[in-house]
Amino acid sequence: MGGIHLALHVTARFITLEGGEGVGKSTQLRLLAELLEERGIACVATREPGGSPGAELVRQVLLGGDVDRWSAGPEALLFAAARGDHVEKTIRPAIERGAWVICDRFVDSSRAYQGIAGQLGDDAIMAMHAIGSGGLLPDRTIVLSLSADEARQRARARDADGGDRFEQKDHAYHKAVVDAFESIAAGESNRVRLVDATGDVAKVHRRIVAELADLLP
Ligand SMILES: Nc1ncnc2c1ncn2[C@@H]1O[C@H](COP(=O)(O)OP(=O)(O)O)[C@@H](O)[C@H]1O
Ligand SMILES: [Mg+2]
Repeated sequence: MGGIHLALHVTARFITLEGGEGVGKSTQLRLLAELLEERGIACVATREPGGSPGAELVRQVLLGGDVDRWSAGPEALLFAAARGDHVEKTIRPAIERGAWVICDRFVDSSRAYQGIAGQLGDDAIMAMHAIGSGGLLPDRTIVLSLSADEARQRARARDADGGDRFEQKDHAYHKAVVDAFESIAAGESNRVRLVDATGDVAKVHRRIVAELADLLP
């Protein structure tokens, strides 16, 4: 029995990685994609905002420009629109053909940034998500947990240009985002798992794999 044959029996899963800028999401997404590939699991690695041609256009208007270009409401609507296109064009088709989808940020980022830190409220974000994306939720969400200070240090070391529009926001906003992700994880502990993002990359990867163990073949 070859790997391809085995892969046919694997249930497609939708996994998201969440947390503030600099916590290690993109790094860990790559390692997770490698692990799935080694196990012969077809996988689509994608990210938000973006992940489809239309959503990538919206990404440019969301992440570029002045720090105050958008207030929380219009910003949340743009994220919901981009996400809807991403779900329709990339995520659902992949799941329907049996591939795993691993995504760097998804609706929990909107809940944390615009819903909680931006004070729009969770009901508003979930209403937009229902319209835009049919309310699609991941099978498992990993929230990488790191202090706002340590995450900022990692992001600053990475971005010589000072980073995107969200990275320009003040410390209080980023602290609110960290707390928001923790409260989302606490409220939905079955789907959303808080993972310690301190320590080296390999250690964090092992912690993530442990939180996905029941889903992995
Ligand atoms: N566990 C880690 N320890 C130290 N540095 C890390 C770790 N994980 C990622 N980094 C580095 O920190 C920076 C931010 O990581 P990245 O994966 O880009 O975070 P995110 O996608 O969450 O913004 C990158 O330069 C990355 O190489
Ligand atoms: Mg990233």
